[in-house]
This record gives sequence, C-alpha cells and structure tokens, in this order.
Amino acid sequence: MNLRQGEMSGLGAGAMSCFRIRPAEPQDCPEILRLIKVRGTVRCAGIFPSELAAYENMPNAVKLTEKDLLEDGFGEHPFYHCLIAEVPKEGQTGSSCIVGYAMYYFTYDPWIGKLLYLEDFYVMEPYRGLGIGSEILKRLSQIAIKTNCSCMHFLVVIWNKPSIEYYVRRGALDLSTEEGWHLFRFDKENLLRMASGE
Ligand code: ACO
Repeated sequence: MNLRQGEMSGLGAGAMSCFRIRPAEPQDCPEILRLIKVRGTVRCAGIFPSELAAYENMPNAVKLTEKDLLEDGFGEHPFYHCLIAEVPKEGQTGSSCIVGYAMYYFTYDPWIGKLLYLEDFYVMEPYRGLGIGSEILKRLSQIAIKTNCSCMHFLVVIWNKPSIEYYVRRGALDLSTEEGWHLFRFDKENLLRMASGE
C-alpha cells in the first residue's frame, strides 16, 4: 500500500473501523519496515508539515533492512517481537493492509526482574483515534502479565506531547522527572575503542 492519501481510497470507513491485532509473521517484514520508515519521520515533526512530507524528504534515514528485520525478529533467539494492526481492504475479501505496529522485547531489572520494553509504537495518521493504539496496549499488557513482567517501560521524546499525554492518561509515570534518569549511549566508535582496550 502506498502512503499517499489519494491512493488509500481503497480503504473505506467500514474497513477503517474494523481492525485486527496479531503477532507479526516473517512475511510482514516489508510492511513493518515501511511503517518504521514513516514512524521515523515523526522525529522530524517540527521540520516537515506532515509525516508524508517528512517521509519523502528523508528516504534514507532508516538504515535497517528487511533482511535485518527477518533475521533479528524471527530467528532462534529473536531480538524483538512485534504486534501489528491490520484493516481489511475494501472490496477485496481476505486482503488486508497493515496500518500500525508495536515493537517490543523483554529486558531485566536487577531489583524487580522481568520487564516488557516497548521500543516503538505507531498507528498511521488516518487510522488514529479508532482505538487501535488502546487495543495494542491491552494486548501488550496481557503479554506482560502472562510472562510475569513487573512493568512496561518506554521512552518518549520530550516534545511528543500528544503521546506523553496519551500515556499519562492511561496511568504512566514519567521516570525522568520522578527518578531523574538520563538516557545514555555509547556509539559504535566508542564500542570499538573500548573493545580494543584503547
Ligand atoms: N488522531 C489521533 N488521536 C485521536 C484522534 C485522531 N484523529 N481522534 C481522537 N483521538 C484521541 C482519542 O480520543 C484517544 O484519546 P484517549 O487517550 O482519551 O483514549 C487517543 O486520541 C487515541 O487513542 P487510540 O485510538 O487508542 O490510539 P491510536 O490508534 O490513535 O494510537 C498512537 C496512538 C500509537 C500514540 C498514535 O497516536 C501514533 O502513532 N502517534 C504517532 C507516533 C508516536 O508518537 N508514537 C508513540 C511514541 S512513544 C513509543 O514509541 C514508545
């Protein structure tokens, strides 16, 4: 499915209100990558007038490939898991379009044990406000409870006020203000330097 609004006309109002959340399968990787690329542009929201404009202006921002997604998510030891949201294509029985995803994995805290980490969460603009995000969060919460996780962690960039409010409305606690955390990164150059003992 192309991103242009006009070309999305095959999806009528009926299809938009009828969605399904399911675990991603290997054949979904091309569509997941498409959404990751669109989602990446949300980080440039102040620069471009719409997600589509940002997408078109930053075609090479995402370095990940379909092969990476396939190997990293569907091998013997998956590095990530993914839920996807799909809606039926109007007039095409049995055919559907992927319009949202949540990428997550499990991590560990030495004080409280297992955590579900929500890495990325995205619903395409025309499909927002239909309850897809809430249903994904419900499914993630069920997975967290079932796997005995103590909580769900995630990062939200400071200017993404709508998402911050979205999470806070659902009871999320801002650990940066509550506990004073800072997010750090060693980049590849530093890793190589430290790995070589320099
Ligand atoms: N567009 C957006 N929100 C709307 C709209 C609309 N047209 N109409 C109504 N809303 C309101 C709804 O009433 C609802 O309010 P509520 O919180 O009181 O229930 C809320 O906005 C949307 O709820 P849902 O339909 O359950 O969620 P949605 O399917 O819109 O997905 C999401 C939410 C994923 C945050 C979506 O807005 C999105 O993709 N945003 C851009 C990407 C993003 O910022 N992702 C999160 C980053 S943080 C992370 O990844 C860990």
